[in-house]
Amino acid sequence: MNAQLHGEALAALGHEPLDWRFKGLPASWSGRTAAQVSSLHPALFGDGPSGPVCVLAESALVHNLTSMAAWCAERGVELAPHGKTHMAPQLLARQFAAGACAVTAATVNQVRVFRAFGVSDVVLANEVVDLGGLAWLAAELDADPGFHAVCWADSVAGVELMTAALAGARRRVDVCVEVGMAGGRSGCRTDAEIDEVARAVAASPALRLVGIAGYEASAGQEVSPEATERVRAYLRGLRAATIRLAGLFETDAVIVSAGGSTYPDLVADELTGDWPAPLSVRTILRSGCYLTHDHGLYARTSPLQLQSALQVWAQVVSRPEPGLALVTMGRRDVSFDAGLPVPLSLPGCSVVKLDDQHAYVQLTEPDQAPVGAWLPFGISHPCTTFDKWQLILVLNDEHRVIEFVRTFF
Ligand SMILES: Cc1ncc(COP(=O)(O)O)c(C=O)c1O
Repeated sequence: MNAQLHGEALAALGHEPLDWRFKGLPASWSGRTAAQVSSLHPALFGDGPSGPVCVLAESALVHNLTSMAAWCAERGVELAPHGKTHMAPQLLARQFAAGACAVTAATVNQVRVFRAFGVSDVVLANEVVDLGGLAWLAAELDADPGFHAVCWADSVAGVELMTAALAGARRRVDVCVEVGMAGGRSGCRTDAEIDEVARAVAASPALRLVGIAGYEASAGQEVSPEATERVRAYLRGLRAATIRLAGLFETDAVIVSAGGSTYPDLVADELTGDWPAPLSVRTILRSGCYLTHDHGLYARTSPLQLQSALQVWAQVVSRPEPGLALVTMGRRDVSFDAGLPVPLSLPGCSVVKLDDQHAYVQLTEPDQAPVGAWLPFGISHPCTTFDKWQLILVLNDEHRVIEFVRTFF
């Protein structure tokens, strides 16, 4: 079943005034609400935005939502999209409407954001060892029988810490054992460790062992044949661990979870299909970047036919040298951890450097990008652009604003 969230909390976002808190908006919108302005479908540049401005293309969002839903159905996987990508309840509502079974979060704080919007199902794809976070999670589970959460464990020390912190909770916390890889991030490194942690979870009065989890991209997102074979071998290890521990799980629907946006095909290849009876498995993918895709990392590595939905528009403020344009977009506004932004309207030109508030665009022709021109830029890695914007404009194909998406980082 699709996960749920509260319609009233979402609707309340439309009543927020558009004011000085949100960069990029025309000053003339100030004081009016998001719902009032979007109902007028204003043209992006009609009221004079003061750049830069971050936008989402409605048609690309719809394409990606429907493509991913169809792909998951065909490949026999469920989708718990990673919410840390956008931290935007309105986008999550679209993902739930398209069939997502839960939201994935990386921290208890992110879970709190999604719970504030009434989200019913959460995959907390991380170890949780902070006492305050565990106390909050236990209270939230006890208060709402309709709230379902699962998190990871990768050490006996962590299991003991959780067990002590959760003493007195009425509901047990669901846990998957996280399997890691050499050179990767968290997760058990050996079969012996996986089995030991699984036995510790199963023996804990505060925890319920429900599955096996991992993140196949934790050592990188290369798509060479060698890297792909390493990822496949890692995923086969997850499958073997699930089969080995079959007798220990305390659920009829064992969770096997992996999968970002670079290798979802390999996850589906290796972690679906027949499992030995009586194992019954839910394979849950946690892709986050599929929703907006990009013009860099995921354009190069995604196996799906997706469209880039996220852009930042910025204005040329200076042309101090013939081949150089400076635009009003810097590290404060756009991702730079997985490649520099791409000037979409200037083929052959490139961004060569970012300062805090400026981008340096190297031009190929002297009459390109005059002072005052607005330029659209594609980005590489959506997660680190979203966190720079509290409000993002959704545009239709005529570049008119049809919605404002609020983020909570
Ligand atoms: C544990 C985990 N799962 C899923 C994802 C989502 O992957 P992607 O950002 O490629 O969509 C991430 C991303 O960092 C992650 O850390």
